[in-house]
Amino acid sequence: MLRQKLVEILKKNREGFISGQKLSEIMKVSRTAIWKQIKELEKLGYKIQAHRKLGYRLISEPDLLIYEEIAPYLNTKFIGRNYIHKESLSSTNDMAKELAYKVPDGTVIVAEEQTKGRGRMGRSWFSEKSSCILTSVILKPQIRPEKTVALTQVAALTVVKAIEEVCSVKTKIKWPNDIILNSKKVCGILTEMSSEIDVVNYIVIGIGINVNCTEFPDDLKEKATSLQLELEKPVDRKKLLASLLNNLEIYYKEYEEKGFESLRPLILENSITIGKEVRVIYTDREIRGQAIAIDKEGKLVIKTEKGEEIALLSGEVSVRGLLDYI
Ligand code: BTN
Repeated sequence: MLRQKLVEILKKNREGFISGQKLSEIMKVSRTAIWKQIKELEKLGYKIQAHRKLGYRLISEPDLLIYEEIAPYLNTKFIGRNYIHKESLSSTNDMAKELAYKVPDGTVIVAEEQTKGRGRMGRSWFSEKSSCILTSVILKPQIRPEKTVALTQVAALTVVKAIEEVCSVKTKIKWPNDIILNSKKVCGILTEMSSEIDVVNYIVIGIGINVNCTEFPDDLKEKATSLQLELEKPVDRKKLLASLLNNLEIYYKEYEEKGFESLRPLILENSITIGKEVRVIYTDREIRGQAIAIDKEGKLVIKTEKGEEIALLSGEVSVRGLLDYI
């Protein structure tokens, strides 16, 4: 809290110096405490000019998704109020699962880099250091396990809204939870949970957004992109992450209070899958049909070539267009 407040004051006064005395008066702590916090900020990457008589002046802040940089944009009550930021992690979802029982509802884990980022269906998740958003949100809803399919859709809607708010561009949801811009994937969501037969213990929503990365490995080039590549300018990761958490709280509350039904029209409106001819790829077979609806549980309803209607659960299949990835 102290450090966050100090950053706020330094940012407001960046035109000139602010004395240690004044800072200690405003923040009601000793000058030594201020000095210690300044040293901590420098370790985090803040450039601060210190003058023996005049005090301190902020020169620049780091391009890191640390709480001090996100907090000014955050409007949430509980999502992100317990916030863990790491330079490097194997996977934010793995850390979230390790901590889930020990931390409060709405805890957010953010990493600048993942060494073993995971995607759906056992795939890995590629990311470039400090140019993406790699985050996991721990939620503890009072819902039955089967209701979590819909929650993933809610998370996808959240991403669409956040990108629209910060980048003024419309993306689409490829069921179950890929976010598409100009026919390529800019974001993936991996929802994992721990549950008993009839009650959820916790849910981890892992979100990876390709924000400012510019290079992808050869095998991804065809279908992956970043916001920067598509918009031809860098995007403010801090604002985007804050908007993501703000919108997640709004939609999550609506989902808890009114149910999935209330958000389904918005999700359908933003779907790129509905109406498409698709291939549904199981581990051992493939079926073709038309995606006709998302049902009230969040399942994708396909009308097969034989005229049969089947509802798909997100965990079990991969859905592709007849000719391409979408
Ligand atoms: C997919 O499209 O297959 C889902 C990708 C999910 C990637 C995110 S990045 C943050 C979180 N941590 C992980 O290891 N995976 C998710």
